[in-house]
Amino acid sequence: MNSCIVGLQWGDEGKGKVIDILAEHSDIVVRYNGGANAGHTVVIDGNKFALHLLPSGSIRPNIVCVITNAVVVDPDTLLKEIETLAQKNITLTKRLLISENAHVVLDYHKKEDQLREESLGKDKIGTTIRGIGPCYADKVGRSYAVRMADLRDLKKLKARLQTIVEYKNKIFAALYNAEPISADEIFDKCKSYADKLLPFITDTTEFLHKSIANGKSILFEGAQGTMLDIDHGTFPYVTSSNSSALGMSIGCGVPAKMVDKFIGVVKAYTTRVGAGPFPTEQDNEVGQYIRDKGHEYGTTTGRPRRCGWFDAVAVSYAVTIGAIDSVALMHLDTLTGLKKINICRAYKINGKETTFFPANIDRLAQASPVYETVPGWDDALAEANDFNDLPANAQSFIRLIEEMIKVPITIIGVGPERKQTIFR
Ligand code: IMP
Repeated sequence: MNSCIVGLQWGDEGKGKVIDILAEHSDIVVRYNGGANAGHTVVIDGNKFALHLLPSGSIRPNIVCVITNAVVVDPDTLLKEIETLAQKNITLTKRLLISENAHVVLDYHKKEDQLREESLGKDKIGTTIRGIGPCYADKVGRSYAVRMADLRDLKKLKARLQTIVEYKNKIFAALYNAEPISADEIFDKCKSYADKLLPFITDTTEFLHKSIANGKSILFEGAQGTMLDIDHGTFPYVTSSNSSALGMSIGCGVPAKMVDKFIGVVKAYTTRVGAGPFPTEQDNEVGQYIRDKGHEYGTTTGRPRRCGWFDAVAVSYAVTIGAIDSVALMHLDTLTGLKKINICRAYKINGKETTFFPANIDRLAQASPVYETVPGWDDALAEANDFNDLPANAQSFIRLIEEMIKVPITIIGVGPERKQTIFR
């Protein structure tokens, strides 16, 4: 059985916890898109693990973790994560594989990300400044890209870095009047990356296909969420990878038809970090209530997340383009205490109602949400083990969302711990 877990909103849906739970039944966990912009949080027995590059399944011993071709790898972050887990006696030796074709995020990518965002002022995207956009831009541009495989031939890499850094410095000086960076310093860092990472670098596509042929069970783990997908999200306020379910095949070289189940993850409300349209945003006391109760501050950047009501139009779109089989609804407990809860069932655009998400920001800017209002509940949910343990109003809320998004909600999160999860 192979499954793919993917976010159906603007990221931060609680995928880390779902992946960690489902990884128990998997032999291999695969991270296939994005980079250190992601922040997956897993809480085990009160211990909080915040992972950015390692697959969330890496906390379970014996699971093979794979970082595939479409991930942009920041070796500084990756090595720090490997070290942090080692300190907790979780070793990745002989169970971490990194694609030789994955691109490397270097210091000049982070610098470029920061300089560009600063220069854009109010028009900035609100990136995580992890060098994601510049690294993917170099990948698509080809001439100045560095892949993990390049760490194998340091002599060649040294010459190549001279050319790349010379080019980057011209841009830094001309566009941003910024200090140059040193090619030698970047190269020295690459030498140390090579020392530590070469044992992990391999052909992950071959590994995955051989594993599938041998009947291994694989969990594919998407980072960010469908609405941040470079091709299908709310462009230009998106990340630079295919973060919808559609990105899985390209991201690791395994066709979607080899995956038995696509599981979408949502929160019982919506959040977004960074700029861009957000039709159900509640920039008011409701949004603040959700932010405080749900600890809605970025795992990667610590920024307060924008909060709003559940948007069934956006989620239905993500379900449709991702052929999602079932949904995990997380953070239900965060809504406890609200007297009334809204669910956006349609948008009104130019006086006409639509339930199909307009993934073009000019049309989206004209959309106003049409809400269905349901009564809330006051009972704490942390101890609920079964759907029938939930307050009647919470059950009705879930059933209504199911009707709107037209897929079953089979997993419900009622707290941060592994055990605070209801399976239906
Ligand atoms: P970038 O991926 O750092 O280029 O940022 C582009 C946009 O995606 C910004 O709005 C970020 O806040 C958002 N973003 C990137 N990664 C995540 C994530 O893991 N969760 C939520 N938002 C993210």
